[in-house]
Amino acid sequence: MMKITESAYLASYASLKSLPTNGFPEIAFAGRSNVGKSSLINSLLGRHRLAKISSTPGKTRTLNYYLVNRAFYFVDLPGYGYARVAKKERLRWQELVEPYLLDRPALRGVVQLIDLRHEPMKSDIELLEWLSFHDRPVLIVLTKADKLARGKAKASFLKARRILGADERHMVMFSAKTGQGKDPAQRWIRERISS
Ligand code: GTP
Ligand code: MG
Repeated sequence: MMKITESAYLASYASLKSLPTNGFPEIAFAGRSNVGKSSLINSLLGRHRLAKISSTPGKTRTLNYYLVNRAFYFVDLPGYGYARVAKKERLRWQELVEPYLLDRPALRGVVQLIDLRHEPMKSDIELLEWLSFHDRPVLIVLTKADKLARGKAKASFLKARRILGADERHMVMFSAKTGQGKDPAQRWIRERISS
């Protein structure tokens, strides 16, 4: 297991030219607003309130960097698919997030979060296809598993896999509440970091 011994918030960036230049490997977290990105980051880092959990969706507008073990970064990305800010948000994605995902040499992998309770939406499918097209390694994390009974969760997982056409080795069912899925997610991240 990759042991996370140390983590700290580094900074939030609203433009690409100000990003860190020390070349530390990066793992980015992407998903619809409110899907559980910050909760997943906190859980992986074993910190309760490092990444801010929002009660109002769509609050994250910057690339939020967390330094882990003084060796690599977790990058919390702005959410997508939140209707009320759709236009601004699309612009932010086009100008900030897409170029980051495309051109950042330090980016080793993307953790894409999808709510296990809902079928993957068009925006989820499009992001995954786009990342795959550009050869970005993706781990799909299906969040909030604790909100479904075991049988329902499994059925939902299989349905998502079918819709996404994804390989089960790159999918994890996760709950920030119970910690389910934390180990496989950490293993995937460790592999990406050390490769
Ligand atoms: P934005 O930054 O606004 O895009 O949201 P986010 O994707 O970072 O989601 P966040 O982690 O802030 O979680 C959103 C809400 O879902 C919060 O109320 C969390 O407590 C809740 N939540 C997140 N993960 C889980 C989970 O695994 N189980 C349960 N029951 N609730 C969760
Ligand atoms: Mg967040």
